[in-house]
Amino acid sequence: MTVLKNKKILLVICGGISAYKTLELIRLLKKQEVEIKTILTKNSKKFITPLSVASLTQNKVYDDLFDHNNEAEMDHINLSRWCDAIIVAPATANTLSKLSYGNAEDLASTVILASDKKVILAPAMNVRMWEHEATQQNIKKLKNFGYIFIGPEKGDMACGEYGEGKMSEPKQIIDFLNEFFKKNNYIYKHNLKAIVTAGPTKEYIDPVRFISNQSSGKQGYEIAKALSKKGIDTTLITGQTELNTSENINVIKIETTNQMFEETKRQLPADIAICTAAVSDFKVTNFNKNKIKKKDKLNLELEKNIDILEYLSKHNSLRPKLVVGFAAETNDVINNAKTKILSKHCDWIIANDVSNSEIGFGSDLNEVSIIYKEDNKNNEVISKRKKSEIAKIITEKVISNFNS
Ligand SMILES: Cc1cc2nc3c(=O)[nH]c(=O)nc-3n(C[C@H](O)[C@H](O)[C@H](O)COP(=O)(O)O)c2cc1C
Repeated sequence: MTVLKNKKILLVICGGISAYKTLELIRLLKKQEVEIKTILTKNSKKFITPLSVASLTQNKVYDDLFDHNNEAEMDHINLSRWCDAIIVAPATANTLSKLSYGNAEDLASTVILASDKKVILAPAMNVRMWEHEATQQNIKKLKNFGYIFIGPEKGDMACGEYGEGKMSEPKQIIDFLNEFFKKNNYIYKHNLKAIVTAGPTKEYIDPVRFISNQSSGKQGYEIAKALSKKGIDTTLITGQTELNTSENINVIKIETTNQMFEETKRQLPADIAICTAAVSDFKVTNFNKNKIKKKDKLNLELEKNIDILEYLSKHNSLRPKLVVGFAAETNDVINNAKTKILSKHCDWIIANDVSNSEIGFGSDLNEVSIIYKEDNKNNEVISKRKKSEIAKIITEKVISNFNS
């Protein structure tokens, strides 16, 4: 898998002759499984059609700052929030000038001004336009703002002249992006590995009967998917559920807490452990090899199970750098979670109130509080939303924990 897989790129196409090369760039990005949204300047449509761009990106083309059909969506804010980086290709002399002055007169310039994402500019223009003092001063300003340049290259130009001003070839831009994302991607550089436990465990009383709980595994599965989607090497150790995962996740199915424990140990060392499984606190000590008959006297003896979260948190040599536990509580959620963090020595506890049937076991929704080990970090509440959304937010927090 390349570092570009699943990256979200906002591609701004300006009105220059080399806009045709951008169609090839889109094709190569798509081959690397990059998700692309595009903004076309008004003048770019003189060179390429929105239809070609929409067909190749398989996404809508954005071109209007004042799109009354889309007003509520505020494209100029949302497009920037959505992407991992913005690429402007070709970046015309005109657009470079507008960006250097912080103009916000069309969708392209407004999105870029409103963005805190990295902006990569691939200029293309006639050699004298490029060498003009005005353009050179604009470039100096843009570099000071933190904009990144790729190219332009030297060569024969469409206008028949020779010199610096050709847009970098799409393949060069792809190579550049690969390097750029590798450099800025802790996950890729360090090949992060995560263990996620999910679902219920079973404690057998006899060969056909067991003690278990209502955990559906949904939140854990969503977290495993979100981590894997970000390029983290993810192993999901799961009790019995009705759920499926994506291909990239290494899934290990278990039944008992002991099996979950053994498989978890086998996965060490890992960088991240997220324990969402609803592990049985107790197991049966007097397991009956044969099925217990109705007439038999049933006398269940229980003993405490191994605490996997605590084991990982207190591991001397192979402790994951980040150990996160889930606390399903029915009352006094935050205080119980705080007690848990202190007794188990994990880094975060993510607590949810399973007494609320709208957000608890089995529901597609959740609402959680994140409690951190550090006293100077305030609890955070992730308000009620889909478990998949909660998983994405938790994943972003996990990643920024490693990036910081
Ligand atoms: C045939 C033709 C080719 C052009 N090629 C370029 C070019 O390669 N680079 C450039 O900066 N401007 C080029 N221009 C000028 C731009 O189209 C013009 O400056 C326009 O205002 C750019 O608009 P935009 O930056 O909003 O897309 C060209 C114009 C024409 C008519």
